[in-house]
Amino acid sequence: MSVSALSLTRFPDSISGFLQVASVLSLLLLLFKVIQFYVHRQWLLRVTQQFPFPPANWFFGHKISEDQELQEILTRVKNFPSACPRWFWGSKMRIQVYDPDYIKVILGRSDPKSHGSYRFLAPWIGYGLLLLNGETWFQHRRMLTPAFHYDILKPYVRIMADSVHVMLDKWEQIVGQDSTLEIFQHISLMTLDTIMKCAFSHEGSVQLDGKYQPYIQAVEDLNNLFFFRVRNIFHQNDTIYNLSSNGRQAISAYRLAHDHTDQVIKSRKAQLQDEGELEKVKKKRRLDFLDILLFARMENGSSLTDKDLRAEVDTFMFEGHDTTASGISWILYALASHPEHQQRCRDEVQSLLGGASITWDHLDQMPYTTMCIKEAMRLYPPVPGVGRELSTPVTFPDGRSLPKGISVLLSLYGLHHNPTVWPNPEVFDPSRFAPESSRHSHSFLPFSGGARNCIGKQFAMNELKVAVALTLLRFELLPDPTRIPVPIPRLVLKSKNGIHLCLKKLQ
Ligand code: HEM
Repeated sequence: MSVSALSLTRFPDSISGFLQVASVLSLLLLLFKVIQFYVHRQWLLRVTQQFPFPPANWFFGHKISEDQELQEILTRVKNFPSACPRWFWGSKMRIQVYDPDYIKVILGRSDPKSHGSYRFLAPWIGYGLLLLNGETWFQHRRMLTPAFHYDILKPYVRIMADSVHVMLDKWEQIVGQDSTLEIFQHISLMTLDTIMKCAFSHEGSVQLDGKYQPYIQAVEDLNNLFFFRVRNIFHQNDTIYNLSSNGRQAISAYRLAHDHTDQVIKSRKAQLQDEGELEKVKKKRRLDFLDILLFARMENGSSLTDKDLRAEVDTFMFEGHDTTASGISWILYALASHPEHQQRCRDEVQSLLGGASITWDHLDQMPYTTMCIKEAMRLYPPVPGVGRELSTPVTFPDGRSLPKGISVLLSLYGLHHNPTVWPNPEVFDPSRFAPESSRHSHSFLPFSGGARNCIGKQFAMNELKVAVALTLLRFELLPDPTRIPVPIPRLVLKSKNGIHLCLKKLQ
């Protein structure tokens, strides 16, 4: 027999040999994964045994439909004091925490953000301030803190008021007497307009130029896709996820979001090519957000790479508009549902402003409106929860403890609805925030707390006050009884069916 005939007969043998080896290896890998799953699950059950939880399927965990998530947290708050494990599947669990003493302990430590879920945000917002940890986070926080200095924020009040007026002018044109409007979309465009002007020196109006809607839509899609990915066992692996239809939708949304932020960076760089503009910026005692980043890059290129810069722009573009849009929308809904409080706020703003334009000095002189804003943020916290991964073991004040490596979700929604902290938590009662009322230091945390609290807190509070005050001067707000919003937890608190209000123009 010739040599070639010999190798031909051996060829099928070598294929079947290869297939046999591959099958054995696959089986071994599967067995390894099953053992890993089992061992990890047993470890989780053992180390969290002091924390009871409602019955869960050993493989599928707690199956909760998306519009029942918040309801489920309320049930847990009532039945499982302080904290309760939420199983996503057999080997993935995190502890939901909603007790102020527990939250105080966690926020007083320096645990990193939960890698298991926050990493899914990285292809979109990169490792900017929100996702960074450790020394790099500290350096970026120190570099960006001056962008929120009082001197910088003061002139923004005028920009905020202009953006709100553009939106209210549009509302006047759209609504006749008694018509209803889905406000969340309009408010998102308005808050994007504001952050683009304040932090990114954008010239022109995002609200009047139709080309920004795709960015808003991309942010909406990414909010939903993130929520579903965290809960899907088959979507944890990047390669598998990217091949799925959700993964492909996410990739196209990242592209849209990045096109938007690339354009913003490019256009500011082009403006700074102009000698006059550059001189103007150099003379400023304090720089706006994007200029801090661009100058840090120019002066010490090694400290901030292009990738770092893009991540910060993507982070602030998202955090700087979606959170405030949620805040303003839910506050207006809460006021629409409570006409007596709405009228009291309107009276306060009318007597404060008369016919004058709103300024920085007015913002501290609307106590009742501020109480209503806080009460609405208690009921509808714009960021419903924040995650941490324990870097060392922790013991809580009641003696229960958790080991290193456990993921915890500080449920701000659960905390704000906890009846042991807030009696009759579902009742809208602004007097809870009256100056003389006392409460636990960690009972109201819409902006989180500790070293990693919200860097944009003051900016956000100013924007909420300006938007609420100016809206109440021009419209009476009523809920649409046929479309009561259903809150759903996403990166920010959204409504499943939008937020529809009936707007009546005031004479
Ligand atoms: C009502 C509006 C807002 C609310 C309720 C809010 C809430 C929060 C919360 C709860 C956190 C902690 C997140 C975590 O630990 O995972 C946070 C962080 C952050 N927020 Fe806000 N935020 C708002 C507006 C803003 C605005 C307007 C900006 C920017 C202009 C901003 C920028 C950031 C950034 C960059 C972080 C990360 C800070 C760090 O880790 O050092 N936020 N925010």
